[in-house]
Amino acid sequence: MNTNYLNELDQFAREILKEAGQAIKNPAKLTIDTKLHRKDLVTNMDKAIQDMVFAKIADKYQDHKFLGEEEQENKARSMDGYVWILDPIDGTQNFVYFRRDFVISLALFVDNVGMLGYVYDVVRDELYSAKKGMGAYVNSEPMECVNKEVTIDQGLLLTEHNALLKYKFAQACMDRAISVRMMGCCALEMIYVIAGRVSCYINGNCSGWDIAGAVVITEEMGIKISHMDGSEYSLLEDHVNLLVAKPEIHTELVEMYNTMG
Ligand code: IPD
Ligand code: CA
Ligand code: CA
Repeated sequence: MNTNYLNELDQFAREILKEAGQAIKNPAKLTIDTKLHRKDLVTNMDKAIQDMVFAKIADKYQDHKFLGEEEQENKARSMDGYVWILDPIDGTQNFVYFRRDFVISLALFVDNVGMLGYVYDVVRDELYSAKKGMGAYVNSEPMECVNKEVTIDQGLLLTEHNALLKYKFAQACMDRAISVRMMGCCALEMIYVIAGRVSCYINGNCSGWDIAGAVVITEEMGIKISHMDGSEYSLLEDHVNLLVAKPEIHTELVEMYNTMG
């Protein structure tokens, strides 16, 4: 892709994210609804952010497609062409109960290749970003791995309750790890794997919009992402399992999953 065009899109995405972040920091009255079940929360803010982001992109780039978590007309059904993938608030339960540890996740894929990825931690005002082939950043600082040597037995495990309920593999990882943490914000948890703060992230029930922004950033930093059995994920999938780890640990974890399920 033409570099000038990519830079223009990058600038445009950053401006939208800033505006969306401001809206989240100064919410009007919050209304909370449920979707598939009583724990699946959505607020008027999730919907407002998605509508705002997609309207701005559609207005400027009429040939681009969209895939968002919330209800939307003309959801992208393939990854051909320019596809923006948005989770307007990843960590909605945290947003509702704690008002922290939630992010806006946005990515641009072109013919299924992640070109731009953003995970915006609104409360900490930390924007994690990556442009394909040009490194990953937190605000304007290059991202670094704080603990390159982390192993399954000498690290913390990040996971969530579906994985622990469904998979012996996740329980075995919990047993091996120094301890277990659950943040409730998939995109941010994937970012923590890059930083080496944890050995890996295991999710039993996630969808393309949860991971798209973080996928571009984590892959740029050489982290491996797959289903637990090692097979390739698709950003068009809903409610699937996911394993995120450094390549060395990833291979060992896939072997563990494939022997115990
Ligand atoms: C959820 C959160 C949660 C993860 C779920 C996601 P939402 O996204 O990231 O931590 O365990 O798989 O669906 O509903 O807050 O956007
Ligand atoms: Ca999400
Ligand atoms: Ca969400």
